[in-house]
Amino acid sequence: MDIEWAKQRIEFLIKTIQQHNYQYYQLSQPSISDFEFDILLAELQSLENAFPELVVADSPTQKVGGDIQKSFASVKHRYPMLSLGNTYSRQDLEDFDGRIRKQIGDGFQYVCELKFDGLAIGLQYLNGQFFQAVTRGDGVQGDLVTQNVKTIQSIPLKLEGDFPVDFEIRGEIIMTRSGFQRFNEQRKQVGEQEFANPRNAASGSIKMLDTRKVAERPLECFLYNILGENLPFSNHFDSLRAAKRWGFNISNYMAKVNSIDEIFEFIDYWNEQRLLLDFDIDGIVIKLNDYQLQQQMGFTAKSPRWAIAYKFKTEQLTTKLINISYQVGRTGAITPVANLEPVHLGGTTVKRASLHNADIIQQLDLHENDFVKVEKGGEIIPKIVGVDRGKRLANAQPIVYITHCPECGTKLQRMEGEANHYCPNEFHCPPQVKAKLEHFVSRKAMNINIGEATIAALYDKKLVNTIADFYQLSAKDLIQLEGFQSKSVHNLLQSIEASKQIPFEKVLFALGIRYVGETVASKLVDYFETIEKLMHATVLELMMVDEIGERISESVIQFFADADNRAMINKLKNNGLSFEIRRSEQQFPDLLQGKSFVVTGKTSKPRDEIKKLISQFGGKNLSAVSSTTNYLIAGEAMGPAKLKKAENLGIEIIGEEDFYNMIKA
Ligand code: IVH
Repeated sequence: MDIEWAKQRIEFLIKTIQQHNYQYYQLSQPSISDFEFDILLAELQSLENAFPELVVADSPTQKVGGDIQKSFASVKHRYPMLSLGNTYSRQDLEDFDGRIRKQIGDGFQYVCELKFDGLAIGLQYLNGQFFQAVTRGDGVQGDLVTQNVKTIQSIPLKLEGDFPVDFEIRGEIIMTRSGFQRFNEQRKQVGEQEFANPRNAASGSIKMLDTRKVAERPLECFLYNILGENLPFSNHFDSLRAAKRWGFNISNYMAKVNSIDEIFEFIDYWNEQRLLLDFDIDGIVIKLNDYQLQQQMGFTAKSPRWAIAYKFKTEQLTTKLINISYQVGRTGAITPVANLEPVHLGGTTVKRASLHNADIIQQLDLHENDFVKVEKGGEIIPKIVGVDRGKRLANAQPIVYITHCPECGTKLQRMEGEANHYCPNEFHCPPQVKAKLEHFVSRKAMNINIGEATIAALYDKKLVNTIADFYQLSAKDLIQLEGFQSKSVHNLLQSIEASKQIPFEKVLFALGIRYVGETVASKLVDYFETIEKLMHATVLELMMVDEIGERISESVIQFFADADNRAMINKLKNNGLSFEIRRSEQQFPDLLQGKSFVVTGKTSKPRDEIKKLISQFGGKNLSAVSSTTNYLIAGEAMGPAKLKKAENLGIEIIGEEDFYNMIKA
């Protein structure tokens, strides 16, 4: 290799990587994927290995991890972001009320509000426009997370009505429980670590560097405090009511009260009702309503004297661990479950608690017959939060995690970086096989009309061992099943026959390849078009597909590397299932056949819609610009690095309108 060429290439790579680092860390606006970034870095590293004399001190390879820059700019709060005095005791609330009455006398009101369990945020508005968002930080200065906060739907970018020209409004960013469950489920499906609770998920989301990813998180924001000079109202309650008119999300669950008894009533009510809310609260906040009276009470160094937070106790009890059972899931993932001596907790009897994985058991240092502390917060499933070591028997042995599958005896595996152990015996481990069969017939997959019990019966009678066996079933087989008559036999056979018409993307989803959910299956089918092409794809080719990462790619490769899987697909094919995309059935002409696209920048239509059009008209969506890209559709404010890269590779750069012209028949 020519040293002069290498020198130039190294210079180019260093500049490009530095530019991307700047976009990533300083602007929080990366214009390439992590994968692409790693490729650049790997190329630089290998050139430097080949020509050590060309290594320069400021090469990014020399300081990987060393100079990770501060990701968000730090901004000083205009008004310090104080916290509240916290208490679990009713006596403290009575004392709080007593202090206030002593200083200002009677005849005032409190406002009682929910204490949202999330991440505190200060939003500044200038002339009715959202200006900036800052996290609490240390109370004096916090992180500037404006771009991320802008993605939250319930935060208005432009206000309506008679808002003050310059003010700050503070609140809590939260993730709803239902959003959290969906989001964690998605993470589980693509093999990412789940979050422990909605608060961690909300706070982790806001602190992410990639704003596009933040936009996908189900975040919301409740506002509860307004600050500014010359505010148009004389009390807190009226200010919040007005803020609601300006467009802010203000909770309806607040009340003006006159006495400590009414405060206790509010607390008791919400201590019960909070389980029914779709978001977590960890207490009640009590504030003096009148601004002048607030001022009169003033502040301590840390918190206002005119407000206090009453925190709900999370009920905690100690009970005895009987044993641990291990469940085997559809993908072979093992979940340890603690069986407990039953205790009454938070209105239900608790007999079991999930232990998630081996690490958790180790962290708890769990021993046989230990007395464990169980807690039930807002969540439905109780948690083991600790062990009472004082009650541990002298000869108690630590829990040793199983090494073999409890269902089929196969040695368990644990992949690097993964929390769960897996039983690798996909095809013969009974719960895995049954779950695969159930997934295969499910409505979103092959839509075969057959219940769980029938599948279990077919499996037990050894009539169906793999998904391909459904297509070998005869009336003679089915009539043996309990409750089956000629009509039900006929219906099932017909439903199996009808499933042969199911399109390829659903068939691919039905195969139950790990991490290949509905969306991934449809993206793979769009890109590869036939099972043959998909089976022969390399990890790199797979990763070229829009939104397909390393983990999914490796899982696909592994699936097709297995001879049993290939044989099964052959059988299914011989039975007439669809293993290629049926372009001819589309009502869209193949105007983009053989052309590949990357969409970037701000587009007027949502990016996903454009991507959909690309695939409907027969084109391919790519996740990143490379030498195989034909067109770059450039929206507004596209990153200069991407533009340059596209130019260097000779890719045609077109506008959104040019693209619509391409698909005009
Ligand atoms: S008022 C100066 N109201 O709880 C008083 N805070 O433990 C400002 N919080 O720092 C806070 N819900 O992050 C207020 N309805 C509510 C709240 C609330 C949740 C958070 C907030 C505060 C912390 C105190």
